[in-house]
Amino acid sequence: MSQSGQLYASAILVKILVVGSGGREHALAWKLSQSPRAERIFCAPGNAGTEQLGENVPIAANDLAGLVRFARDQRIDLTVVGPDDPLAAGVVDLFEGAGRRIFGPNKSAARLESSKIFAKEIMRKCHIPTALAGSFSESDDARSFCERLQFPIVIKADGLALGKGVIIAQDCDEAATAIREMMNEGKFGEAGRRIVVEEFLRGSECSVHALVSGGTYQMLATARDHKRALDGDKGPNTGGMGAVSPADNWTADAQEAFDRDIMRPLVQGLMRCGVAFSGLLFPGLMMTAEGARVLEFNCRFGDPETQTLMPRLKSDLIELIEATIDGALEDVTIEWDQRPAVTVVLASGGYPGPYEGGKPIAGLDECAQLDGVHVFHAGTRRENDRIVTAGGRVLAVTALGDNVQLARERAYDAVSRIHFEGCHYRRDIAVPPVAGNIAGH
Ligand code: AMP
Ligand code: GLY
Repeated sequence: MSQSGQLYASAILVKILVVGSGGREHALAWKLSQSPRAERIFCAPGNAGTEQLGENVPIAANDLAGLVRFARDQRIDLTVVGPDDPLAAGVVDLFEGAGRRIFGPNKSAARLESSKIFAKEIMRKCHIPTALAGSFSESDDARSFCERLQFPIVIKADGLALGKGVIIAQDCDEAATAIREMMNEGKFGEAGRRIVVEEFLRGSECSVHALVSGGTYQMLATARDHKRALDGDKGPNTGGMGAVSPADNWTADAQEAFDRDIMRPLVQGLMRCGVAFSGLLFPGLMMTAEGARVLEFNCRFGDPETQTLMPRLKSDLIELIEATIDGALEDVTIEWDQRPAVTVVLASGGYPGPYEGGKPIAGLDECAQLDGVHVFHAGTRRENDRIVTAGGRVLAVTALGDNVQLARERAYDAVSRIHFEGCHYRRDIAVPPVAGNIAGH
């Protein structure tokens, strides 16, 4: 940490609660546990990986009242929220009302992720580059708008829809079906009653994470996620099948344009609109031939990007989070391991469709011995003395290497030692994107 960073550093021990149960939460809990200031780590509800770092508590991530009760009873000093749902439901407002420290945006600021219409409105006001779009609450208006656009087009449910609310429609019929299902038939419940229709952007995607505290921000390292289920960016969209950091499509020019055209106007615009954002902001970008365009804003750490970023982060995560909450981001310097990291996600057979759980996982102990390798748990649980699958994305294996090729080799070597029935994973994580388009066409 820099000299100014040391000014911020404190010696107070903290009891921490991490909310969530995925690979992201295991990676956050692991990184927090590395801090000399971490006294004890609880995870609600956690998985078989977080259990090894502290204590899992059987409270669901969306049981807001249960979480705040636990934090009060256990005198938790710092709560870190992984998933978007509790943020959108106002967990931060609830904790702050109860006088408990929590990291993440309040309900109003979390609308940047929980309402795509709100995000588009802010981007329009702040002149932030994004896909041309219209917002609709009447299906007839949405259909007429589609007819005026060039296909493919993208139809998005306004609200949170478990990552399934984005449809790429190839023609008018597909668009009409998606609009009907979302707006008239309630496919995503209230989340799809209003929609955004936008132009399809071509390019490669990039995940940028920033700690934001009111009008100031500090970027984390970049990452590139691989969203499609199959090699070559084929197959259905998933939560993310792997990631590489730094992103191989990020340049110094992209960084300058990102600060100038996206982040600075955004944080200033939010302040002007009376929205005080405090927490982690992760704009998903499409790097197009005309420059970066914002696809969406996420108000929390990415999954699996976090599993790639945390092993590279050298600074103390507790210090960074506290500086964000206290509005002291100028006082910290974020330091990174210069080595790249590659994360490969191991998924259950059938994922992202239906899958079976309860499959015993072999090879975890062997992988734990490997140098430069971290195995983060996602959908896992302990069953007596063994660990079994309990979710679609089961594990995220991250390796650091002197270059991306070495990190890839190390990650895939570790992956080859892990076995469970039905396991599938992509073999092309961190292979550079094909020029032109990786968004599916
Ligand atoms: P979102 O939740 O808005 O990020 O959308 C999920 C995924 O859909 C993105 O990560 C992209 O892969 C894809 N996507 C969203 N919007 C667009 C767009 N305008 N053009 C092309 N692909 C998009
Ligand atoms: N990996 C993308 C996300 O977390 O939204």
